[in-house]
Amino acid sequence: MSPEPPKQPTLSERLASIRQASNAVLPTGAGEAAAREFVFRAADFERVRKLIYDKAGISLSLAKQDMVYSRLARRLRATGMKSFKQYLDQLEFSRGAAEWEEFVNALTTNLTSFFREPHHFPVLAQHLRAVAEKRKQINIWCCAASTGEEPYSIAITVAEAFPGGVPQVSVLCSDLDTHVLATAEKGVYTPDRVDKIPPDQLKRHFIRSLGPSGEVYGARPELRRMLSFRRINLLDPVWSARGPLDVIFCRNVMIYFDKPTQYKILARFAPMLQPDGLLFAGHSESFLHAADLFRSLGKTVYALAAKR
Ligand SMILES: C[S@@+](CC[C@H](N)C(=O)[O-])C[C@H]1O[C@@H](n2cnc3c(N)ncnc32)[C@H](O)[C@@H]1O
Repeated sequence: MSPEPPKQPTLSERLASIRQASNAVLPTGAGEAAAREFVFRAADFERVRKLIYDKAGISLSLAKQDMVYSRLARRLRATGMKSFKQYLDQLEFSRGAAEWEEFVNALTTNLTSFFREPHHFPVLAQHLRAVAEKRKQINIWCCAASTGEEPYSIAITVAEAFPGGVPQVSVLCSDLDTHVLATAEKGVYTPDRVDKIPPDQLKRHFIRSLGPSGEVYGARPELRRMLSFRRINLLDPVWSARGPLDVIFCRNVMIYFDKPTQYKILARFAPMLQPDGLLFAGHSESFLHAADLFRSLGKTVYALAAKR
């Protein structure tokens, strides 16, 4: 006698199990204390994933549950909410733009450093010298500027590429996260942030002073003059950045977006770039899926594709 086929669950059994799964309290991560301050359910995590994807294009993997919990728990405390559900309900249905900004700020990852991926800066210097032969004004957009280390590294590169006098260079520094952008605009860094900059270079481009919490290094006015700061969400349908641009730095942000989102952004970058312009990407970002728009020059530097 052949064994009986396994019994298929009925529709109502299936619905009940989905409801149960989304109500499940998510387990704490290995490194965390056993009990969490706030109940965090699978449905809450899914809701956060959808909201941050819609607002900022950021695709959070399932492995990011602990990160989401710890970053948003701070917002729950700050707003006096008792649960993730209550916080998310308030966010979606009653709180204004200010909490949306905090929500997005909390979920962005802002890791950066001076001269990160250093191989890009000699390429930038060489490109700028070539451009300066052809044009009086050089325009650069650093579109995920974070706390400013990247745009100040660009400004230092500009200053050092033209020892005889810097041409007209403007660097638009933007980011989605308003907190990091405010830090970038201040341009003041603690010693641990600048410790990779060689001492003579540090002295040339920063002013050391004693702040309320100790020694700090402020970027010199010659660097600051090149930079302007603005919040721009790369997902927004309209950007306040304008071409023609000689250089776009878009490093270590595309990695948070899925390929269709990356492609849409690249398709908007392309017409903003000068025909000889360069796009700098992060070390783990590849734009092979946009070969009709950009061609690789190696070292994650891209030029416009020959036939667009
Ligand atoms: C990991 S940091 C990279 C900083 C810098 N580009 C670097 O490579 O060192 C990523 C930055 O992208 C920003 N970001 C994330 N989503 C964004 C979006 N939709 N539009 C603009 N910036 C975004 C984050 O706020 C964060 O500051």
